[in-house]
Parts: sequence; C-alpha cells; structure tokens
Amino acid sequence: METHFLRIGGEDTIRRLVDRFYDLMDEDPDYYCIRKMHARDLTEARNKLFMFLSGWTGGPQLYMEKFGHPRLRQRHMPFAIGESERDQWMACMQRAMDEVGVDEKLREELTAAFWKTADFMRNREE
Ligand code: HEM
Repeated sequence: METHFLRIGGEDTIRRLVDRFYDLMDEDPDYYCIRKMHARDLTEARNKLFMFLSGWTGGPQLYMEKFGHPRLRQRHMPFAIGESERDQWMACMQRAMDEVGVDEKLREELTAAFWKTADFMRNREE
C-alpha cells in the first residue's frame, strides 16, 4: 500500500497544503481563535508543520531529524485547546485539503487521522 505521502503527491503538495492552511487561518475570521495563539509571523509554524507532516504521512522524517521527537501534546500545552479550537483547526485543514485538490478518498482518510491527532491535543475541560 502506498503511503499517504506518495498518494498526496509528496513534498510539493504537502508544502502547498500547509501554505493554504496557514493562509486561511490568517485570512478567515472563523479561525481567529486559533490564529491568535500563533506568532504574528507564521513562517516558522509553516516550516515546522510541513516538516512534521512529511514524516506523519510516511515520507522523510524531516521534523525528527531536525528537532527530535515532536512530543506534540506536550508542545501544545501552552495553548488552551478544547473542542472549539480542535474543530477550528480541523475545519481549516479540511478546507485547505479541498482547495489544494486532495483526492476525495485520501481526504477522508487524512481527515480521520488528523481528527485523532487534533482530539489528542485537547488539554482543557469544556
Ligand atoms: C487541535 C488544535 C490545534 C491547535 C489550536 C494548534 C495550535 C498550535 C500553535 C499555537 C502552535 C505554535 C505555533 C507558533 O509557534 O507560533 C502549534 C505548533 C505546532 N502544531 Fe499545532 N495545533 C493544533 C493541532 C495540531 C495538529 C492536529 C497537528 C499535527 C497533525 C499540529 C502540529 C503542530 C506542529 C508540528 C507544531 C510545531 C511544534 C514545534 O514548536 O516544534 N497541531 N500548534
């Protein structure tokens, strides 16, 4: 079975996906709540998410090579993440996947995988 990395179109598509994701987060007030948790300059966030997703989809482990184990849940602890933040992150990512033209079947699989990771980031009681 081909990896998600190959099926999505490798680094080029992942880069486009991450760029679209952060452009949307930056432009659309629907995502203001999670946008304001991020630094004003999104360059580092873009690079890190790109490197992380490369490995997460089964491609080169760029993030691990540079920064070590991601310990994502721990790294998100400084931000209060509940259901609404998780849902905003997911909505933004789903729109980005749609706009970048990720194939529908793959989009469904990635949505399910993203959802598990996003839900795992929750760190505040509702
Ligand atoms: C559930 C809702 C989420 C929120 C609100 C959120 C928010 C954030 C914020 C505020 C940062 C710091 C960015 C900065 O330094 O300016 C960050 C970093 C990051 N996030 Fe998320 N995130 C969420 C879910 C996810 C998910 C699902 C993934 C992966 C699939 C992810 C991957 C990352 C990575 C790789 C970083 C960089 C970590 C580092 O500092 O090395 N995040 N996130």
